[in-house]
Amino acid sequence: MSKTPRIAVVGSANIDLTTFTREFPKSGETIFGQKFDLGFGGKGANQAVAARLCGADVLMVARVGTDLFGPATVENFRRFGIDVSQVQQVEAVSTGVAPIFVDGSGNNRIIVVKGANDLLTPAAVEAAEPLLKTVDWIVLQFEIPLETVAYTIRFARKHGIRSILNPAPAQPVEIKNLADLDYFVPNESEAEAISGIPVRTLEDAKRCAHKLLAQGIRSVILTLGANGALLAGNQGMEHVPAFPMKTVDTTGAGDAFIGSFAVFLGEGFSEREAIRRANLYAGLSTTGIGTQKSFYKRDQFEAEWKAREPAPTSAGS
Ligand code: RIB
Repeated sequence: MSKTPRIAVVGSANIDLTTFTREFPKSGETIFGQKFDLGFGGKGANQAVAARLCGADVLMVARVGTDLFGPATVENFRRFGIDVSQVQQVEAVSTGVAPIFVDGSGNNRIIVVKGANDLLTPAAVEAAEPLLKTVDWIVLQFEIPLETVAYTIRFARKHGIRSILNPAPAQPVEIKNLADLDYFVPNESEAEAISGIPVRTLEDAKRCAHKLLAQGIRSVILTLGANGALLAGNQGMEHVPAFPMKTVDTTGAGDAFIGSFAVFLGEGFSEREAIRRANLYAGLSTTGIGTQKSFYKRDQFEAEWKAREPAPTSAGS
């Protein structure tokens, strides 16, 4: 397991403005929140940081503004040791921002204003192709134009690069554009929005994954929060349980899962083992506030992994 995976994230970068509140205001009402946090976020950026903290070499392909947030975002990537040669600062558009509201149970509601992320066009990916051709994995999400996602998936398949898509935030999508993917990784609400099948139980998740596979997706990993993840592909379906956690903020847990999963798989772990490990990495991220700042470094993760073995067995699969 010594190979250092080389991972590219073609995706979003946002600034997260997180308010912790016990309740939400009604229309016209002003209430007090309990705490505020400003941090670097964006699903793409979070996945890149998770992959980097887990030990991968990471290339980020993204667009930010020239406002206060743009240069700070680039500097943040640099501090992690992420290749920023394909992160361009674009004039006259804001950096992506995400007002986030976290309730007392650690659950979040997020509004993303995409700003510069919308300027990550297929031409931007084309310009990055010489570097992209050198990676083992490309990771994508839906906070950039969908035509860029489709273009990049085709590019990856053409060049034998494995690809992972996190369809977040959920949007109507032509499934045929996703047929070349290696892994499609939605959470329950994204899976429901895309398949039309509500996902409340493990049985629902299986039905939903079955439909997605029948529509032409190769492998589905449906993340189920505190219930772990369901792996579904041509070998069948397997439920991989999560680890119990003292959760304070779930924001970015899905990103932690995807970034770390790509690394574990790239290092040579089996799919099941990579998911078990990613479940723990994501779970640990929910014990701190914010997104990137709650992600564990690899040595911290390995200590937790060692302490928690043997892993729980599946109850419902
Ligand atoms: O998945 C969490 C992320 O969603 C946040 O960092 C926010 O920026 C939005 O993209």
